[in-house]
Amino acid sequence: MTDTVEQDTTKTNSTNHRPSRAQQVAHLRTLKAAALEGGGAARIERQHQAGKLTARERLDLLLDPGTFEELGTLVRHRSSAFGVDGNRPLGDGVITGYGRIDGRPVAVFSQDFTVFGGSLSEPHAEKICRVMDLATRNGMPIIGLNDSGGARIQEGVASLGGYADIFVRNTLASGVVPQISAIMGPCAGGAVYSPAITDFCLMVDGTSYMFVTGPDVIKAVTHEEVTFEDLGGGLVHNATSGVAHFLAASEPECLHLTRQLLGFLPSNNLDDPPVVSTGDSPQRMDRELDTIVPEQPNRPYDMREVIRHIVDNGDFLEVQERWAQNIVTGFARMNGRSVGIVAQQPTVLAGVLDIDSSTKGARFVRFCDCFNIPLVTFVDVPGFLPGVAQEHGGIIRHGAKLLYAYCEATVPKVTVITRKAYGGAYDVMSSQHVRADFNFAWPSAEIAVMGAEGAVDIIFRQELAQAADPVARRQELIAQYEGQFANPYSAAERGYIDDVIEPHETRPRLIAALDVLQNKRDTNPPKKHGNIPL
Ligand code: HXC
Repeated sequence: MTDTVEQDTTKTNSTNHRPSRAQQVAHLRTLKAAALEGGGAARIERQHQAGKLTARERLDLLLDPGTFEELGTLVRHRSSAFGVDGNRPLGDGVITGYGRIDGRPVAVFSQDFTVFGGSLSEPHAEKICRVMDLATRNGMPIIGLNDSGGARIQEGVASLGGYADIFVRNTLASGVVPQISAIMGPCAGGAVYSPAITDFCLMVDGTSYMFVTGPDVIKAVTHEEVTFEDLGGGLVHNATSGVAHFLAASEPECLHLTRQLLGFLPSNNLDDPPVVSTGDSPQRMDRELDTIVPEQPNRPYDMREVIRHIVDNGDFLEVQERWAQNIVTGFARMNGRSVGIVAQQPTVLAGVLDIDSSTKGARFVRFCDCFNIPLVTFVDVPGFLPGVAQEHGGIIRHGAKLLYAYCEATVPKVTVITRKAYGGAYDVMSSQHVRADFNFAWPSAEIAVMGAEGAVDIIFRQELAQAADPVARRQELIAQYEGQFANPYSAAERGYIDDVIEPHETRPRLIAALDVLQNKRDTNPPKKHGNIPL
């Protein structure tokens, strides 16, 4: 590494024992050049062989060309345990600074696995904290590129303290500036909790992993045998645990996704998201929407298609697309302005609300509310998922998260009921009762306490037990109930639905609604913070 640089560049000018200007500059240049080498050519080669880019190569892809300004290049660690004082590489395993993405300033840190495995020492943590403070004070998003063996083993508790300093900053910055974590290698032990507090985690398939305890410890404690990939690889955290929000096939794709995601977000909670000229007419009507919901009430259709037909140019950046797929969350633009979309997905579990989909929806709604991103909700929900596992797993507590998130959100909220809106799920899904601003329904909407079959079985139980032909009578009653309730008109009569609209006019109607809500100001009662059911 760079120990030689430390010794060789202290030569003095022979006449006054002070280095000449030329020597001073040469010394600086030598130091800067050494800093660029990280852990040296051999370790860089190893990094490349593992299919990974170096910390600096990643920053080059992440930031607008030529905008990176490095801070703390000359920081070195101060430890001596286990002989590490003989190895004090410049930068100490993390490259920090600021740069621009699409012209907007961002704070960045990029861990360098070639230096002590990117492990976190006290000064390494201090460097990260410094850019986090810079970001929070100046309203810039923070992007962390994580590639680290965890706590610097030689530093002991100083490293643990460094992590805690980062956790506090993550927490205080939460809701002030967007925080994005790209996991580009190992991320293990308590180190996972910094990304977990941030708003979005992106992972790279095959080369990144996250876990609290690794395969060896698990084997010793529970006797389970599992690989790194199966325990905490990108697919696992995107499809099973819900820890990660995006899975990229490669590092360049991951960094590109980070830029794309940032394009939908404001720089801080006092800013609005960037407005982009998309070229898609706000008046565009889409006739395909008129036939997208099948005539048969239980036949599925892909809600992502509905979304794509409505948003600008069909561009939809789905968040957590592999987890809790019965709810769809993501970002799009309407007439150039960012919106957060939450929608049921009838192709998965009929779009029912369960524990995972409630949690996923709630976190997304709260993110949008933190950062002034209007919410557009598409509803086709048969209710909450029945079952002992769901009840014992706490669907009450988890479902309440989504309800709480919608009730609490003061950003513009516009809702379209495409088909079912039954029971408590009707209330939850951005109904007018939870302070949505505009509520529309398609003619295919069914808004009621429950589906016709369930309702008939309950309210006509006695009658059906005594009926001469219970099957025929049941069908008759179901048809009667459907005629009365399986439509949007009782809700519209009460004004709970502002208008029943034809599907093809949804885009212009939503854009008009969002336009009028642009200056919406709504506040919640002053408090330290609410107590969302966690
Ligand atoms: C110091 C470390 C290090 C660490 C790796 N290195 N981890 N140095 N502290 N935590 C160094 C290695 O000595 C090696 O140095 C170089 O980084 C590359 O490591 P390799 O093992 O050769 O790489 P690889 O085979 O790819 O394995 C990567 C790895 C492994 C799986 C991450 O290094 C590993 O298991 N490291 C320890 C992980 C760990 O247990 N960390 C503590 C977790 S607890 P040379 O000089 O040979 O290049 C924790 C608590 C945080 O983090 C709590 C916060 C609240």
